[in-house]
Amino acid sequence: MDSILIRRPELKKALDSVAEVAGYLWKKGWAERNGGNLTLNITEYVDDQMRTLPAISGVLPIGVTLPNLKGCYFYCKGTGKRMRDLARDPMSAGSIIRILDDCATYEIIADTVVKPTSELPSHLILQDYAIAEGTGYKATLHTHPIELVAMSHSKEYLDSKHLTQILWSMIPETLAFAPLGIGVVPYALPSSVELADATLELVKKHDVVLWEKHGTVAVGPDMMEAFDQTDVLNKAACIYMTGKNFGFTPEGMTPQAVQEIRDVFNLPDKR
Ligand code: 13P
Ligand code: ZN
Repeated sequence: MDSILIRRPELKKALDSVAEVAGYLWKKGWAERNGGNLTLNITEYVDDQMRTLPAISGVLPIGVTLPNLKGCYFYCKGTGKRMRDLARDPMSAGSIIRILDDCATYEIIADTVVKPTSELPSHLILQDYAIAEGTGYKATLHTHPIELVAMSHSKEYLDSKHLTQILWSMIPETLAFAPLGIGVVPYALPSSVELADATLELVKKHDVVLWEKHGTVAVGPDMMEAFDQTDVLNKAACIYMTGKNFGFTPEGMTPQAVQEIRDVFNLPDKR
């Protein structure tokens, strides 16, 4: 059977961009084996024919009930699938799902039965929030950026405010492009609803959420923006770590210099 992407150039373009990001994740070393996952709300590209496509899976539970997702469609990385494979062929490493009217279950409609990521509750809770708040965010990205994850192994860096101040002070662009900073979720079981709920609370106030000893989560209008948010903050962590490797603790920009950036660029302090 033809791929759902055939004769749907807009949908294909959106997934090409997702694939490009998946390639970056692999090259950065953030996507070992099946590490990381992502979803993209593709409802805007759904035509009448797609709406009537029969399910190719049974009805599957999300794990949570999300009232704003009724009738929405998402591209999801498949559980156990590799980002580096997704980069070559998104429809072999992921699938398109339709959320059913009960807002608690979904079915797969294309191209083959690739079961969505185990972190689906976290992704869809954020997608539900994005719609409820009218944020325009369509993309959610979970990845394993090495330096940020390493920092989350020390109690010294588990306080969100303290970690954010360190990262902001490494290079002016960090504050300019991540003005809400990073929020740290204490360790919780991967794929759990507990982890998803805690992530939602911190995404409301931060650009990126760091899961202790695991990885990050970011949202954005598209996958490239969600990637950039993660990349900007991990770059700051890399600079900090490089200073530590040289044998000193990086001085960081002064609080006055950081405040000046906030004032001059009129940076937001909430979403
Ligand atoms: P999946 O293969 O189920 O997407 O899991 C990868 C992962 O990073 C879990 O946190
Ligand atoms: Zn993970």
